[in-house]
Amino acid sequence: MRCCRVSSAAATAPLLLGILVSSLLPEFASCTTRHYTFNIVQHNVTRLCTTKSIISVNGKFPGPRLVAREGDQVLVKVVNNVTNNVTIHWHGVRQLRSGWADGPAYVTQCPIQTGQSYTYNFTITGQRGTLFWHAHISWLRATLYGPIIILPRRNESYPFRKPYKEVPIIFGEWWNADPEAVINQALQTGGGPNVSDAYTINGLPGPLYNCSSEDTFKLKVKPGKTYMLRLINAALNDELFFSIANHTVTIVEADAVYVKPFVTSVVLITPGQTTNVLLKTKPHYPNATFLMAARPYSTGQGTFDNSTVAGFLEYEHPSDNSFNKNKTIVKPSLPPINATGIVANFTKMFRSLNNPKYTANVPQTVDKQFFFTVGLGSSPCPQNATCQGPNGTKFAASVNNVSFALPTTAMLQAYFSKNSYGIYTTDFPSNPPNPFNYTGSPPNNTHVSNGTRLVVLPFNTSVELVLQDTSILGAESHPLHLHGFNFFIVGEGFGNYDPSKDPANFNLVDPVERNTVGIPSGGWVAIRFLADNPGVWFMHCHFDVHTSWGLRMAWIVLDGQLPSQKLPPPPSDLPKC
Ligand code: C2O
Repeated sequence: MRCCRVSSAAATAPLLLGILVSSLLPEFASCTTRHYTFNIVQHNVTRLCTTKSIISVNGKFPGPRLVAREGDQVLVKVVNNVTNNVTIHWHGVRQLRSGWADGPAYVTQCPIQTGQSYTYNFTITGQRGTLFWHAHISWLRATLYGPIIILPRRNESYPFRKPYKEVPIIFGEWWNADPEAVINQALQTGGGPNVSDAYTINGLPGPLYNCSSEDTFKLKVKPGKTYMLRLINAALNDELFFSIANHTVTIVEADAVYVKPFVTSVVLITPGQTTNVLLKTKPHYPNATFLMAARPYSTGQGTFDNSTVAGFLEYEHPSDNSFNKNKTIVKPSLPPINATGIVANFTKMFRSLNNPKYTANVPQTVDKQFFFTVGLGSSPCPQNATCQGPNGTKFAASVNNVSFALPTTAMLQAYFSKNSYGIYTTDFPSNPPNPFNYTGSPPNNTHVSNGTRLVVLPFNTSVELVLQDTSILGAESHPLHLHGFNFFIVGEGFGNYDPSKDPANFNLVDPVERNTVGIPSGGWVAIRFLADNPGVWFMHCHFDVHTSWGLRMAWIVLDGQLPSQKLPPPPSDLPKC
């Protein structure tokens, strides 16, 4: 696709400048090229009375917003000025035939090394709403993340009334320690990593933590208006319940796809998920401030950060334009930590809009079926070492009992140059190697196997994938994320998936379309997608701790016959390992 207009926005003020430049220019093309520069730097940040140097983009935490319209081409030059290797992933961007710009380290690219740069080049096609970008190597995304805002095309509107204002609300997780030290130590000892010290809203932990009341996000609103909150869960290891005291929200979009609107007082958002919600403010000035708070939903057996992040929803006084202090503070009520039933009811509310304009193209037939178990496991402790994982072993995690080992070179490059020998194999199991009662009492042997094994799919294969949680070392919800595609969530349930009964209840009409799905704790979820995007596509749990333990794999989607169905060659600045 050729773009005729260029809007160049320094990443320090991309939103304002980007919109300003594009709105001043005459309308002679439906798409724009947007340029950003992301300088990866170290800078000092103080939270919870601890000052530390973090890795950020352009010295901003959270990082800058990337704003584009549907159809725009985006060029982001990422310059690495720190000692760590870095990559950036544009989470949820379909990357149609632009797999080289996807970003997961050792999957689609070698990392950008110190002093090097790489320009990510992709076009936003058929998506509108909110996504986010984040580092995709080790745990660097703890501080390297920011919103992606995809506006409708210039001549198009939302399928709901235009909100008065739009505000990104990005949840994160804060460690007083260096997150890289935390995961490196955990991988050494085999134990669970130290949990975070706080959650954050737009980088701020809020008043419920010690030494943090100055660092509180405040949403200042006028009565009688509709605000669109762009919710993003960028936390590393925790699904979050979010609620605003005395207010409900209307969910209108999920993972950059419009959904049938529904009203809720609590939102559950897993790491990797994004969702736009409309907040209608009270018609009259209330003499109160409302807490907006988030805390985890957790069903696993391990320890987790059980704290609560909060911000304020403050109403502007109609007569004096002030946001009064010393008002009553109303607190929201959040579900219990392990409220699995509430989560199941909530996730079932999501439906594709599926109207003539925004159709749900659910694959009605299936070419290939896969059944993957997903869960924890263990690896033996090395000789002469002591390990802090289960029964003196090391924690591991797997898909179909394969704990995926990342190679030391990028798989997409190996695939493209037909040089995969010694880098990966293409024998990822389509079904569990040893079937067992997945959600019953776990087997005695919990050891995983290791490998860099992939699935190969011919172009345009229609795939049905059932993801089954296991109870090994505790049943647990896993937010599974697929790169390069959206999938339709056609069914889900508790217990073991039953191939003779469950498909009868699949929704093939208006299932929600997402890039990240929470596999129910002690249950299963069935997804369908069309493999229409050639490349190597990572799939993994969006809990970074589980990804680090091997809960990841990758799909190779082959080129199709037509030139428009082939992956182009790599860009000349693609980093080398
Ligand atoms: Cu948001 Cu592979 O990740």
